[in-house]
Amino acid sequence: MNNSKQAGRKQARKLFSAIIVAAPFALASGSSFAGGDAGKGEELSQTCAACHGADGNSSIGANPKLAGQYESYLVRALRDYRSGSRESAIMAGFAAALSDQDIRDLAAWFASQESDLSVLSK
Ligand code: HEC
Repeated sequence: MNNSKQAGRKQARKLFSAIIVAAPFALASGSSFAGGDAGKGEELSQTCAACHGADGNSSIGANPKLAGQYESYLVRALRDYRSGSRESAIMAGFAAALSDQDIRDLAAWFASQESDLSVLSK
């Protein structure tokens, strides 16, 4: 076997192992919003119910409705409150107590609820 062939094989092997190593991360990030367990989220949501409503349809204007919101949006919002990149004195405290999995579970729960928002007819 000549040297360039060997080098080519070596490179192919390297590429192959890079794919093997990277694949689970790619899968994990691609499905990170699908990783939520809505049942677990429902349990966790008891803490949120006083302000956001039991099913996320808050009836108080100051507290946003979460029902039917995009799961990815909810995950992002909670992570941002937790990190402080989105500021809210109220939500910072609640988000601080949440793990990544809690956030995914809560997002799955609220996203799966039917929103009572409607579009006004003209
Ligand atoms: C004491 C009342 C209160 C409680 C309890 C509470 N929240 Fe909130 N939440 C708020 C308020 C007020 C805002 C709006 C903050 C802002 O201006 O960003 C908010 C915003 C949010 C948002 C962003 C919504 C959007 O449309 O951008 C999410 C997501 C959220 N809360 C989830 C939760 C979850 C999950 C819990 C329970 C772990 C929870 N909240 C508990 C009052 C509350």
